[in-house]
Amino acid sequence: MHTTVDEIAPDVFRLATFVPDVGPTGMSFNQFLIRDEQPLLFHTGARRLFPLVSEAIGALVPLKSMRWIAFGHLESDECGAMNNLLAAAPQAEVAHGALGCMVSLDDLADRAPVPLADGQVIELGEKRVRHIDTPHVPHGWDARVLYEETTGTLFCGDLFTNLGDVPAVVDDDVLGPASEAEDMFGATCLTPQTAPKIRELAELAPSTLAIMHGSSFRGDGAAALHGLADAYERRLADSA
Ligand SMILES: [Fe+2]
Ligand SMILES: [Fe+2]
Repeated sequence: MHTTVDEIAPDVFRLATFVPDVGPTGMSFNQFLIRDEQPLLFHTGARRLFPLVSEAIGALVPLKSMRWIAFGHLESDECGAMNNLLAAAPQAEVAHGALGCMVSLDDLADRAPVPLADGQVIELGEKRVRHIDTPHVPHGWDARVLYEETTGTLFCGDLFTNLGDVPAVVDDDVLGPASEAEDMFGATCLTPQTAPKIRELAELAPSTLAIMHGSSFRGDGAAALHGLADAYERRLADSA
């Protein structure tokens, strides 16, 4: 395995490791690094990927300069290497939703995490990231997304998961591949709140969707998010 690095928006980098033995097609596990005065990493990758991911980070910024560690929710691919990073970067802090800190991270993180209120912004230098609580969307009580305001990049985690060894960025259909992945894994917590929360994210009108598994998307993020919300509404209705 190896980790590829692509710049998906100015000073926003996708670090991707394709793991061939996940499901029938394999799947990429992506982290996103925002390079600024205070570098931020969204998703750490699992602990076993830390040698690859830390080397990829080091090609962009000194590993020990990492300032913020963030992720969508508590799962090994999202945050398994959190404590490895805390050890490697002495000034780094984990920034997560207040609920997730209380429920899990106050205990799991080797240094105390920074609890964020819904809508709270962290200034990284030139870039600004807004924390948005999305409980159970796509899954996990502590779930959240991050929105970088200057580039219009929504770090949407497992939303729009797409499978296979795919390009870093696409600008066409993200809904078909996301539907295939949902059929395969059923990863999304399907509730009456799923679609409305995704529509709230559409109001941000992001121009880039930084997707955790598969290709990122550049284009009309609001239309893509509304399309995704429509698809989950249909799934919920079909399950009734
Ligand atoms: Fe997940
Ligand atoms: Fe994930």
